[in-house]
Amino acid sequence: MTAELGLPMVFPDPDLTRAITLYEVGPRDGLQNEAAHVPTSVKAEFVRRLLAAGLPIVEATSFVHPRWVPQLADAAELMDLLVDEIGDAARDLPVLVPNERGLDRAIDLGLRHIAIFASATETFARRNLNRGLDDQFAMFEPTVARARAAGMEVRAYVSMCFGDPWEGGVAIDQVTSVGRRLVDLGAGQLSLGDTIGVGTPGHVVGLVDAFRQVGLPPDRLALHVHDTYGQALSNVQAALYAGVTTFDVSAGGLGGCPYAKSATGNLATEDLLWMLTGLGVEHGVDLDAVLATSVWMAEQLGRPSPSAVVRALAGGR
Ligand code: HMG
Ligand code: MG
Repeated sequence: MTAELGLPMVFPDPDLTRAITLYEVGPRDGLQNEAAHVPTSVKAEFVRRLLAAGLPIVEATSFVHPRWVPQLADAAELMDLLVDEIGDAARDLPVLVPNERGLDRAIDLGLRHIAIFASATETFARRNLNRGLDDQFAMFEPTVARARAAGMEVRAYVSMCFGDPWEGGVAIDQVTSVGRRLVDLGAGQLSLGDTIGVGTPGHVVGLVDAFRQVGLPPDRLALHVHDTYGQALSNVQAALYAGVTTFDVSAGGLGGCPYAKSATGNLATEDLLWMLTGLGVEHGVDLDAVLATSVWMAEQLGRPSPSAVVRALAGGR
């Protein structure tokens, strides 16, 4: 391990005094697109190691239709195993839930934190949720209402916020309209997804400003960037300076979406940790422990991590 050399020099930026929260999506977004079968016990170990590294929120799996995402068909078994291994705290790990059927499955297990996922575009709504842009809200409305009534925390993703592989660029007011409707239904944090990684920093700042105009300031938002075009870290930096404090990351840069073939991995947890550490921004995560976890996971998956920081620090491993 690179204990002495494995950290950047720190040059604190006095403009960045807010603590930030990393929302880890590796076990869900990272594994939902994997060709290889990943045993449930390996998924559980992945979650446990990420929690042990200090990541405060780890999205564990999805309660979607198992035919749509067979890689996560063991969602209930995984959550049962995690409750056995880490106790009741496992029930606070967020899980994706698209509809009431998924919510029922989460409630049966006593889970307390769900994330619904909407689309900012018509085509992706049809491909990912099997319904149109407007119809998706009819699915979310009772799901969010019942989840809130049961005392659950509800996050809402908006996918294709920056561009869509079938429709091209997506108008900012189309994105804010979808996001505003989700919050009006009762969702808490909104995670803005650059599903295919086409966004650029000015676009990010424009979107954050536009959400402020519709009454949703940066502390209601998270940014969820895939690194397809190599823009992920720049886009997070822009959002950080624009006041966003929650960022979705995936250990080792795993990730993708089975219903958007052009989506590659998420921003790697390690890549963001390197930048935040150098900027002196508080994050509470042990970079070395995440790195060791990604190296282990890459061995399980049989291919190297796409993360630049993992490659640099774990070269040869
Ligand atoms: P549908 O076929 O329209 O569902 O799929 P339906 O309501 O018509 O029900 C059909 C059957 O499916 C019924 O069974 C339901 O019970 C069952 P039958 O009566 O025929 O025996 N069913 C379910 N079973 C288990 N769990 C469920 C469930 N729901 C229905 N939850 C549905 C609609 C939304 C379910 C489907 O389209 C689906 O599962 N989509 C999931 C797609 C997905 O997971 N994509 C990846 C996650 S999104 C993402 O990665 C983007 C993100 O990272 C952000 C970003 O990057 O932008 C979040
Ligand atoms: Mg994603």
